[in-house]
Parts: sequence; C-alpha cells; structure tokens
Amino acid sequence: MSKAPRLTTTAGAPVPDNQNSVTVGPRGPIVMQDYQLLEKLAHQNRERIPERTVHAKGWGAFGTLRITEDISKYTIAKALQPGAVTPMLARFSTVAGELGAADAERDVRGFALKFYTEEGNWDLVGNNTPVFFVRDPMKFPDFIHTQKRHPKTNMRSPNAMWDFWSLSPESLHQVTILMSDRGLPQTPMNMNGYGSHTYSLWNAAGERYWVKFHFKTKQGHKHYTNAEAETLVGKTRESYQEALFGGIEKGVFPKWELQIQVMTEEQAEQTPYNPFDLTKVWPHSEFPVITVGEMELNRNAENYFAEIEQAAFSPSNIVPGIGHSPDKMLQARVFSYADAHRYRLGTHYEHLPVNQPKCPVHHYHKDGPMNFFGQQTGSTDAYYEPNSFGGAVEDKSAQEPPMKVTGDMARYNHREGNDDFGQPRALFELFDAGQKQRLFSNIAAAMGGVDAEIIERQCRLFDQVHPEYGAGVRAAVKAASEYEPNAVPVDENTPQHAAE
Ligand code: NDP
Ligand code: HEM
Repeated sequence: MSKAPRLTTTAGAPVPDNQNSVTVGPRGPIVMQDYQLLEKLAHQNRERIPERTVHAKGWGAFGTLRITEDISKYTIAKALQPGAVTPMLARFSTVAGELGAADAERDVRGFALKFYTEEGNWDLVGNNTPVFFVRDPMKFPDFIHTQKRHPKTNMRSPNAMWDFWSLSPESLHQVTILMSDRGLPQTPMNMNGYGSHTYSLWNAAGERYWVKFHFKTKQGHKHYTNAEAETLVGKTRESYQEALFGGIEKGVFPKWELQIQVMTEEQAEQTPYNPFDLTKVWPHSEFPVITVGEMELNRNAENYFAEIEQAAFSPSNIVPGIGHSPDKMLQARVFSYADAHRYRLGTHYEHLPVNQPKCPVHHYHKDGPMNFFGQQTGSTDAYYEPNSFGGAVEDKSAQEPPMKVTGDMARYNHREGNDDFGQPRALFELFDAGQKQRLFSNIAAAMGGVDAEIIERQCRLFDQVHPEYGAGVRAAVKAASEYEPNAVPVDENTPQHAAE
C-alpha cells in the first residue's frame, strides 16, 4: 500500500487526531479551542451551493470537436476551420427536476457545450429539441413556474402546466416533441442536440449568414415508454450517470455529427415564418443540413462538483466568426446566464478551472470576493484603459459586421400573425400509427388530475394541428379516466407524478 499523505488543517498544520474531539474529561464537554473540529463542522455547513434554477440535474463529460469539412466561406471561427480539434465539455440535464431527481423522467434534455477555443470559450447552450415552449422571454419565468412545484402543495402541478400550455399556442410544437417518443431518451448518448436558436456566422469579407447548429447522435435514437421508465426509476434513479460515466470509464466514447443549416440575409426576408422564432425549425428541404465535423466525449470528470456542478455555460460566450441573431429569446439568454452564475458560483466563476478559457485572458475588472489571480491587464501599472503602461488593448479584427435590423420600438404581440400549427402538423404527419398512439397516451397520462375545461381547451389546439391529434388525445383521456375513474377531472391539488 502506498504511503498516505499527511492530514492537515486547511492552513496546512498537521492533524494529530482525526477521530477524537478535545474534551474536558472523557465524558465531555467539548472545548471551543478545538479549532480542528470547528473547521470541520464549518466546512460541512458550506458544502452546498444553490442548485441551478432550471436544469439542476445533470451529467457531463469532456471530449473534442473535430472539424472535417470546409465551411470557411461562412465563418472565420478558428474552431470551425477544417482540421481544427478543440477540447470541450458537455453537460446534459433535465429541466424541471431538482438536483436529486430521477434521470429517466419525461422532460426536455439540456445539451450544453463549452468549446475551449484558442480565441476564448464558445458555449452552445442547447437542448435535445430544435424548438422551445415560448418565443418571448417575458414568458420564460412563467413557463418555468408551471414546471416547478405548486406554492401551496409543494408538488408539481399538471393543472398549471396544461393551463399555461393551453393558453400559449406557441408551445404546441415543443409539447408535441416532449410527449412523443423523443421526450424520454434512454441515455444522453441516444439523443440529438440542437443549438435551437438562430445564430450567425460571419466570414473574412464581413458577410453574415444565419445558422442553426445540430448535433446528430451516432448511437441512434433510443427511447423509453412511460411504463419502461417507471420500472427503471424503481430500480435506479441514476440511469443516465451510470450509462454516460460508466460507458466512458469502459472506453466507449459517444459521438455526434455536427451539422449546420445556413440561411442568407436575403432568404431571411422571404421565409413565410420568422426565421428568428424559437418555436420554429427551418425545414430541411429548404435549408439542407451541411456536415461540419464530429464531437466525441472521451473523458470523465475527476470531481463531479468541481467540474460538472460548477460548470457555467452562457450563450453570451461567442468567439470571432460566430454571432447572435435578433431572436428575442436568445437576446434574453445573453443576459441571464452570466447573471445566474455570478449568483450561483460567485463573481469570479470564470476563474474556476472548468470555466477558465484555455487562451490568454486580459481585462480591467478589479478585485471582488475570492480574487486570487490579482490583475489581468497585462501590466502592473495599467489598471484603467486607455493607459501609457502597456495594458491590454482592443483588437478591431474581432469586430463582428453590423447586424441588419429595422423597426419601430414597441411591445409587439408575438401571438399575432404566427402560424403555431403548421410545423407541429408536419411533425405529427411524420409519426407512424404506433408513435401517434404513444403520443396520445403520454399526453393523457400527463393530464391526470387536470381540470376538464383545461383539457378541452388544449384539445381544441390539438384539433387545429390535426383533427386526428385532438380526437386521439380525447379518446386516450377518456380511456385513462375509465381505467382510473377519479383521474380526470379532480381537484388541482391532487398529488400527481408530474414531470410528464
Ligand atoms: P424532415 O423530414 O426533413 O426532417 C424531420 C426531422 O424530424 C428529422 O430531423 C428527424 O430527426 C426529426 N424527427 C423524427 N422524429 C422525431 C420526433 N419524434 N421528435 C422530434 N423530431 C423528430 O422534415 P422538416 O425539416 O420539414 O421538419 C418536419 C418536422 O420535423 C418539423 O416541423 C419539426 O417538428 C421536426 N424536426 C425538424 C428539424 C429541422 O431542423 N428541420 C429538426 C428536428 C425535428 P433525425 O434526423 O434525427 O431522425
Ligand atoms: C440553464 C435561463 C431558455 C437551455 C439555465 C439557467 C438559467 C436559464 C438562469 C441556469 C444557469 C445556471 O445556474 O447555471 C434561461 C432563460 C431562457 C432560457 C432566461 C429564455 C429566455 C433556454 C433555451 C434553451 C436553454 C431556449 C435551449 C435551447 C439551457 C440549458 C441549461 C440552462 C441546457 C443548463 C446548462 C448547464 O448544463 O449548466 N437557463 N433559459 N435555456 N438552459 Fe436556459
């Protein structure tokens, strides 16, 4: 057996006894001067940090992004040039469940990627779905409240979920995906990742292209039915961690193909839908996918808390050659994430090793709690800018081209003039009979205990997607209520198994 290192206090002094507190006589009491005991208890009291307000339960691993194709006509991003190999981190998550939630719950999965490029960190904080429930960030906190616990019962409330969805037709596309087979992937390896938003790429000539990013699983899509998931959760709550962590420990490295869809600024003026609307996809027939490269995960974290729990992703992290878009949701997310990290992890979260860029960093931010790195201006006497002392200066070559936007400032009604039914219909029509039946029964299961009028309001939305959709859900709800007569409708405070 190797010789163990010497146990010390946090100040480095040797610890002579890690079993027995200092007491007055063998029966106690304990004396306050037992600083080693006090340090131990005080540290235990500080072991937890706030969990993420959404996407609290997660699983992550490190790997590489390898670019195999040439898309340099669209972007100068160094990490997207042919042959580039960039180290990266992925964190997958469920949205609604807390830190201790079971993995195999029906929910959207987060698909957050951090690429440590030589020009700074590029974060693509996506989901396993190409669209989202809402299209205006004003509605994001309301939507999340419906997914979390009821303030009185402290349980999830299907009534709240379907009340909100049935009053928000823009959610139909994402609700259909969530309730379809893809709403319950078997493992993180068996699902696609989507940047979801429209981002932009810009090239050496300063031309901007709109872009969607897709990561297509090479492991194939695999899903659980609700019944299979219930059995699994009865046996293990950690099935994703077991599969991802366990697989990588065994040398099985999952891969995804990176694809993009590209739209010119001129084309964006002509699409019948708003190409910056997060509830819409760009049809593949009009905007075919272009293969770019491959992402592989091949290394587990050594310490889950340090490297996965403290990982901080933000859509504001972009690099030269990649830009944002007018998408209202994306614009709000550019603010929200770094703000969340400063609260959850602290002012200097970017200095935690997992978040640290792997390129030189120079800025004029100063001091603050736990500042262990001094100043990063590049020169001792340069603590403001401009200065005459060799401090870091701006680099105009990183300036992205102007983004063309027009319009009068107002609060525009995002529910006017938008077709919320066409794309869910295209998806519904892709499903075979078995997929449709599972969609209906998953929805009926998720509607257990929901007020009849809310169910009917939601079914009227499904009717507008496709008459077969509304009829199928009504029949499934009826069948469920006959099987379990009290299931529909009942008091809204009835306990429910709720992530669905
Ligand atoms: P296509 O037939 O060209 O593409 C269909 C897409 O649907 C494929 O990307 C496929 O993913 C995906 N898909 C298949 N089953 C499901 C499911 N149960 N849940 C979610 N996605 C699924 O058609 P369009 O591009 O015209 O899109 C038609 C509909 O497909 C859209 O309205 C949208 O709902 C959905 N979709 C479209 C995407 C896009 O970017 N255009 C992306 C994902 C979904 P895969 O390739 O992995 O099999
Ligand atoms: C996590 C806000 C929409 C994907 C978070 C967090 C916040 C947040 C505050 C917690 C961050 C943390 O504490 O680390 C918002 C807001 C949104 C929005 C305000 C809309 C206006 C979206 C969308 C997607 C998404 C559209 C996907 C396309 C994620 C993911 C995480 C996350 C994957 C977890 C990241 C991780 O693994 O650490 N979001 N979100 N969010 N969000 Fe969003």
